[in-house]
Amino acid sequence: MRLGIFDSGIGGFTVLKKVIELCPNNSYIYLADTARLPYGVKTANEIRKIAEEISSWFGSQNIDAFLVACNTTNAIALDVLEENLDVPVFDLIGSAASTIQESRVGVLATPTTVKTKAYTNAILDFNPKTFVIEQPCPEFVPMIEMDNINSDEITDVAIRYLRPLLKQKIHSLILGCSHYPLITPLLTDILPSRVKLIDPAEALTLKLKLFIDSKASNHSNKKNLVDLKFYVTSNLKNFPNKAKHWLNVFPEVNLVSLQKKGWVS
Ligand code: DGL
Repeated sequence: MRLGIFDSGIGGFTVLKKVIELCPNNSYIYLADTARLPYGVKTANEIRKIAEEISSWFGSQNIDAFLVACNTTNAIALDVLEENLDVPVFDLIGSAASTIQESRVGVLATPTTVKTKAYTNAILDFNPKTFVIEQPCPEFVPMIEMDNINSDEITDVAIRYLRPLLKQKIHSLILGCSHYPLITPLLTDILPSRVKLIDPAEALTLKLKLFIDSKASNHSNKKNLVDLKFYVTSNLKNFPNKAKHWLNVFPEVNLVSLQKKGWVS
């Protein structure tokens, strides 16, 4: 199966890693819109326009399913993606919300995602009695992209973001931006052990696995043959090193322009 997956940058690696582990015998086309990173402080209009461009580009890639590895686009423009793509779309927010068991839940996400209250609304749809508190984290994505993840600076930022959630005695914490699982060690150091970390990629991956398994044609005897293709919209040179660091692959990466027709790569 050919699966499209996208994020603004390296955040989607955390989703890609999980889906590859559970659904290895497939082709993955990963698009990172690095030219417009970070998405998390953009307006809803900007994100919806980007979602149109992303879905047009993937429309030309002959994919069988699409994975939204960006919560910000998921929160603002899932409808745009679903309308423009004629393949099943797997999302993080809806997938994760349906699995939440705890009665007091914290969410870390980008400012744009938090503004929509998409996580709160999706969780309450499944269980109206859940208490949900969302915390915008504008500084995380730029720091993670710069690999500034082991500093006192990011530790101080994380403590500041987590303080209001811990005051509310949360039982679980949703990593509502796909970049945040990359700082799991930092977050677990700060959080009391009673707080369960939830990576929405896990729920998405389980849904995708069910879908793939339901397609008889995909059943294959091949073991762990993953085909990965990477595309970025800028910073072509840095990307293979980032993929090597986080995914342990050193892929060929192609530059693509999403604004242009006839996508040059
Ligand atoms: N990783 C994306 C998300 O899950 C986008 C982060 C950003 O570019 O600000 O929201």
